[in-house]
Amino acid sequence: MRCDQTPAWKALTAHASAATGFDLRVAFAQDDRRAQRLSQNAPHVFADLSKNHVDADTEALLQALARQTGLCAHRDAMFRGEHINTTEDRAVMHWLLRQPEGAFGGALGGALAEPLALVQATLSSMLAYAETIRADAQITDVVNIGIGGSDLGPQMAVLALQDFVIPGKRFHFVSNVDGHELAAVLKGLRAEHTLFLIASKTFTTIETMTNARSALAWFQAQGGADVARHFAALTTNVAAAAEFGIRTTFGFWDWVGGRYSMWSAIGLPVAIAIGAPGFRDFLAGAHAMDQHFQTAPLEANLPVRLGLLDVWYRNFLNYTSRSIAPYHSALRRLPAYLQQLEMESNGKRVDRNGQALPYGTSPVLWGEPGTNGQHAYFQMLHQGTDVVPLELIAVKKPSHHLVDHHELLLANAIAQAQALMVGKADEGGHQHFTGNRPSTFLLLDELTPASLGALIALQEHRVFVSGSVWGINSFDQWGVELGKVLAKDIHARILSGDVHGLDASSAGLLQRVRPG
Ligand code: F6P
Repeated sequence: MRCDQTPAWKALTAHASAATGFDLRVAFAQDDRRAQRLSQNAPHVFADLSKNHVDADTEALLQALARQTGLCAHRDAMFRGEHINTTEDRAVMHWLLRQPEGAFGGALGGALAEPLALVQATLSSMLAYAETIRADAQITDVVNIGIGGSDLGPQMAVLALQDFVIPGKRFHFVSNVDGHELAAVLKGLRAEHTLFLIASKTFTTIETMTNARSALAWFQAQGGADVARHFAALTTNVAAAAEFGIRTTFGFWDWVGGRYSMWSAIGLPVAIAIGAPGFRDFLAGAHAMDQHFQTAPLEANLPVRLGLLDVWYRNFLNYTSRSIAPYHSALRRLPAYLQQLEMESNGKRVDRNGQALPYGTSPVLWGEPGTNGQHAYFQMLHQGTDVVPLELIAVKKPSHHLVDHHELLLANAIAQAQALMVGKADEGGHQHFTGNRPSTFLLLDELTPASLGALIALQEHRVFVSGSVWGINSFDQWGVELGKVLAKDIHARILSGDVHGLDASSAGLLQRVRPG
């Protein structure tokens, strides 16, 4: 049943209007177990949800909404490998990439045993290759050329796991078709010391193909001859990679969405950076979260609680964005990664049957690491006219010895969440903080391959939960197509100067950017 037609939706609407005066400070004063009740552990992640605009009734109603919209059946269908990506008629099995060896030997067996065997075989050969590159002192620079899901995940993870990265190798990520990016990277490289990874699920993405061709031309111009040794492709389109002239290819499958592909061959730069055992730990952390998502009861299921909270905020309290503040500088690309994950998955205006929706879907996600954000846009979070739920992500143990810095960092994270909630009265107005502003606090013990894996799988599944309740297909991305088609046309027109049939604005801009 579509979510807005369920009894729970109706009850939540009534509950939201009855709760207009909800005040976090009062809620804490009235319930000395609130922090405890609204906190929980999940694999590698502790979550404090207590500073959110929810109470026990809200959570119970949201769980009813999940049940009435068939969340568990939908989740189980994904984990059975059913084609829940209906518009592309594909299964959604990024979770299979992190299944340990030997799973599905028993009851489930059959259908999933075969893809799992392929996954394991590809993983083994990719990790063996990663180890040979790690041992190859000649290769000092690894350049990943890819965009979107073929860039954001590996880039975020290599940065996040910098303490585990092999010394003596540098990792570069080129995504933009803007030649400034590739040119700047190439400037510091020598062909004989460079490995290019051409990462593209489709091997047709114009940005990636343009960068790959230019990288190949540069390599050859530098006297590079051994393409097989210096170029590898990570793709589902093995034939296109071969046609491009790349002989070393690691494949994956159409049932891995681009933004869910870091666990596949697209993770090769991560595997080279942290090594085979590290990459296996990364997968194991994510797998632990998969199991939690599959088995924990709704009321103690962290991805479910977060995803339902997202629905509550978006549809009942009309909070249209969420700010992400990683209090760890190595997680500085996490907001960009999460933007694609959530906004490309759930930025949809029709349901699974193509019917226009009368309610909102994906919020806007944005953010920067704390404490930097505090000195930039947190002003708006504290005193602006819109309420923006904040998600703080902190790590208990630092990997450096500047202990006093870390204490200060964590103090800031806790203090910001506290300040948002408690506020401060000031008669004069300008120094008045209303308080009662919501936040979620996620805490990892340490930032390791396993905990990062768990954190990312948590985010993937919370996006699944809200998308499932909204009744949308979180696994297609038709919205990116129109711009691609028009860019092709405009590109041809920039070359020819033909503006016939264009709107006046586009024609004017085109004429301005033409050379000469
Ligand atoms: O244009 C959007 C998109 O298709 C993303 O979904 C994807 O992650 C990205 O482009 C890159 O695609 P590919 O890996 O096929 O080059």
